[in-house]
Amino acid sequence: MDPRTSVIEERLKNVKRIIAVSGGKGGVGKSLTSSLMALSLSGMGYKVGLLDLDFSGPSDHLILGIKYTQPQFQPKEDRGITPPEVYGIKFLSLIYYAGENPSPLRGADISNIIKEILCITRWESLDVLIIDMPPGMGEAVLDSIRLFKRIEFLVVTTPSRVSLGTVKKFIKLLEDFKIPLIGVIENMKISDSTKDEFEKDFLGSIKFDMDLEKAIGDPEKLMSTKFSMELRKILEKIF
Ligand SMILES: Nc1ncnc2c1ncn2[C@@H]1O[C@H](COP(=O)(O)OP(=O)(O)O)[C@@H](O)[C@H]1O
Ligand SMILES: [Mg+2]
Repeated sequence: MDPRTSVIEERLKNVKRIIAVSGGKGGVGKSLTSSLMALSLSGMGYKVGLLDLDFSGPSDHLILGIKYTQPQFQPKEDRGITPPEVYGIKFLSLIYYAGENPSPLRGADISNIIKEILCITRWESLDVLIIDMPPGMGEAVLDSIRLFKRIEFLVVTTPSRVSLGTVKKFIKLLEDFKIPLIGVIENMKISDSTKDEFEKDFLGSIKFDMDLEKAIGDPEKLMSTKFSMELRKILEKIF
């Protein structure tokens, strides 16, 4: 028995919902969805935390324009780590620990890093903690299922058959583990919707947005993109 497990539960006891944004593949829009979900919910008055747990390439700081090396964006140390508050969001990312260096990690290292971060971070009370997950069903997902007792999953996919197959396997895995699935978001919709593929689990679609790239790094611009408007409609179904 790892004593850190009970410390983690204590640290998260005042967090009402823990939502992991996941998907079978990389590049489907998990980070955009996580970051804009955090901004939107914060704007709606919810107390929001955002944890970028993507070991392969943390990117929420880029999307939100958080210059993480500057003092005002640094976590503070005081009987643990207090995440900086940016645009009303308590923000923590692996980028603070890994920096720009590539960090090839093995399974046990990944588990240890996740445990350490959860043990030392003071989220205090939150309505929702959003976790931006790495792609696929790897170590980080399996650890998160074990460590966050009340985790729920929001799954992002593109309409491509290449993504759909892996996402279906992912959903099956959640079912097998009896982990709640909030639903599936179809991102970068071009033509026909994949609604029928997911039946009751389907939450809605976000179209491919040509203007999204220009808004990256600027939260105000991001909030007025079509992506953001379509995501907000989906969020209204969940919150
Ligand atoms: N609906 C969309 N329209 C246009 N570009 C998008 C859309 N969703 C995501 N992107 C772009 O696709 C890339 C991958 O998105 P990202 O959120 O980083 O994916 P993931 O976290 O799943 O790897 C980013 O450059 C992002 O700006
Ligand atoms: Mg990502």
